[in-house]
Order: sequence, then C-alpha cells, then structure tokens
Amino acid sequence: MSANFEVLRGDLNQARAVETPPLVPLSGEIVLRIEKFALTANNITYGVAGDLIGYWQFFPAEGDWGRIPVWGIGEVSSSEHPDVQIGQRFYGYFPMSQELRVKPAKITQRGFADASEHRSALPVVYNQYSLVSPENGFAPGLDNHAMLYRPLFTTSFVLDDYFADNDFFNADSVILGSASSKTAFGLAFMLHRRGGKKVVGLTSQSNKDFVEKLGIYDEVLCYDEVENLADEPSAYIDMAGNKEVLARVHHHLRENLVNSCSVGITHWDARQGEDPTSLPGASPTMFFAPSQIVKRNKELGPEVYQQRITQATDAFFAVVDNWVSIQEAPLNEVEQVYRTVLKGPAPNIGYIVTS
Ligand SMILES: NC(=O)c1ccc[n+]([C@@H]2O[C@H](COP(=O)([O-])OP(=O)(O)OC[C@H]3O[C@@H](n4cnc5c(N)ncnc54)[C@H](OP(=O)(O)O)[C@@H]3O)[C@@H](O)[C@H]2O)c1
Repeated sequence: MSANFEVLRGDLNQARAVETPPLVPLSGEIVLRIEKFALTANNITYGVAGDLIGYWQFFPAEGDWGRIPVWGIGEVSSSEHPDVQIGQRFYGYFPMSQELRVKPAKITQRGFADASEHRSALPVVYNQYSLVSPENGFAPGLDNHAMLYRPLFTTSFVLDDYFADNDFFNADSVILGSASSKTAFGLAFMLHRRGGKKVVGLTSQSNKDFVEKLGIYDEVLCYDEVENLADEPSAYIDMAGNKEVLARVHHHLRENLVNSCSVGITHWDARQGEDPTSLPGASPTMFFAPSQIVKRNKELGPEVYQQRITQATDAFFAVVDNWVSIQEAPLNEVEQVYRTVLKGPAPNIGYIVTS
C-alpha cells in the first residue's frame, strides 16, 4: 500500500493518514516514488489559500479532505513513457505521499511538465518537474537545500529585484513582517548585500534573538513595538499577513508608508482586522512574482536572469547553514512535523520529511 497525509480543507487542524493501493502508470504516464520533501509555513499558506488559488486541485482527495502540495524530489519507479526512464530523479510539486502519477509532456533535457487533465488550468510553474542533475543546477549533496529554499529564495530574489527596479518607491527603510521566516530573511540577505536601505525586521518576541543574530537586519522590533518604527519614507513587505499588525504599521506611518506589499500569511490564524483597503498610506497590494519575472526575462533574456538567480542562490546557500539546521523526519512522523509547522516552527530549523 501507499501512504498519504491529508488535512480537512476547511479546518487545517484536522489531519489523517490514508493508505491507497500502489499507483500503476497508464500509457504515456509515469509513477514517481517521492523520496523526500520540505515543509514550511509556505505550505500552510497553500492550505489556507487552497480554494482561492486552486492549490487543492493539484492532488485531489476524497470528500472534504485535501492534499497540501510540498516541494520535493521523486524518483521514477515505473514508466509507460518512452522518454522518461526508471531511476531518473525529478524536483517539483508533490503531495505529502509516497507516490505520484504524472503524464510527462514537453520533455527536454531539463525536465517535463505534467499534462494530466486535472492540472491543465493550473499555473505552469507548479506543473514543471526538473531533472535533478548538476548540469541542471542541482549541486550534489544539496538536495535538501533545493527543496527547502529554492521556492522561497526565488521569491526573495524577485522581491529584491522588483523593489530595486522601482527605486524602492522612494522608501528609505524597508520593513519586513515575519522577519524570521526563510522568505523574509532571504530578502533581508539580498537587501543587506545590495546596501543603501535600512532593513527593519518585525517579528515575535520569541524569535527576536534569532533575527538579531542573523546580522542582516539593521533594526529588529517585536510586533508590540510597531509604534517605535522611525517615521520616515518606508515600504512594508509583509510575510505575516497579520491584519492587526498591518493596520498598526499603516496608522503609524500614514503617508510615509510609500508601499505596502503583501507576500505571505505566516500568521494564518490572525486574519481578523480592519479592512486593508481603508487603511492610511499606500494600499496593500498582493505581490505577484511571475509578472516581475516575465518583465525581467524580456529585458535581460531568461538566461541572464536565471544566471543572476543562480548566483544569488549559491551565495545564500553558502551562509544559510550558519542560521538554520535541517532536520529530517520519516514519513510516519509527518503529522508531528505538520503540526509543529502549523503552530509556528522554530526559525532555526528546516524540516525535511523522508519516505
Ligand atoms: N507570494 C509568493 O510568491 C510567496 C513565495 C514564497 C513564500 N511566500 C510566503 O511567505 C511566507 C513565509 O514562508 P516561509 O516558508 O519562508 O516561512 P517559514 O520559514 O516556515 O516561517 C516561519 C516563521 O513564520 C512565523 N509563523 C509561522 N507560523 C506561525 C503561526 N502559526 N503563528 C505565528 N507565527 C507563525 C514565525 O515568524 P515571526 O515570529 O517572525 O512572525 C516563524 O518563525 C508564507 O506565508 C509563504 O506563503 C509567498
């Protein structure tokens, strides 16, 4: 039998393990044995925003249950496709399961796209599976880093690029909400490297020490210190999605808040608060990384832009182990890891679940 981990779509606190018969590929399909995957607040966001953005549709489950997508690596265990061989390993979007059946299309030396009918209307980026090989940018020995940081740090990179591309909307300070999250400190790493702007982190009391010790924020404040933010032209880049904090940042900075950029909802259970559209200062706007990627690919060419992302990722990988240790857990402990991440994980641990 094949193991799967599911949650109730309407109540992420309810979870169950489900056994299903082993998957068999039909003509043109392959089955991937999922080796391992990373689990961070980003995946919880997929669950919270599952209906809004269609995340539940990638890996359908029975009734009210859903399979939250994760970034992982799978090895082809059986193939009914002439161009995909047993033993090849692919990085991409998986359920928290032991197996996934896909229908490879657009096959190149770099990977393929899953052309399964139920995924056809979903964003292309999530249907792409990349061959895990050094030639394809996967350094040997860094599989865990790829699964844990690639999806997050690419967003950090594109955010830094987007703000620089827009002259930081004339902000002197950049304030990051949920400063201890990997996406936020990836961005702080880029901003610190770039220089020229004050980088301020907002975080929980319990994570303040961690954020200070990173050494890439110029100032670190707890959420109850929002009113101590310097009243100067500022941009707020929000990974927390905490509506109460958002309102306090807007009311404190008013017209000095020149940009309010919504990126995440790590505080997924703190979504009650003032209507964001009626807050003073710049209107909160959802960040959409693909738009900036398309723009820069046109301006620079996709090879150059990808090369810049790769160089920055390498630099980040070279330091991140000083800050975060990767902890592996077997698939039969996935529920414990999930509940830890759901409640708010310690920022100095990155979780990988292995099958
Ligand atoms: N829009 C995009 O394209 C995009 C791409 C990547 C990531 N994101 C978003 O960015 C956010 C960060 O993701 P990540 O994977 O980098 O996070 P992560 O490293 O797992 O973040 C952990 C941090 O999140 C906060 N947190 C998590 N759960 C919490 C809870 N239940 N209650 C209170 N605080 C909690 C805590 O930070 P603090 O104490 O500092 O608040 C904690 O240290 C996610 O919402 C993700 O979806 C968006």
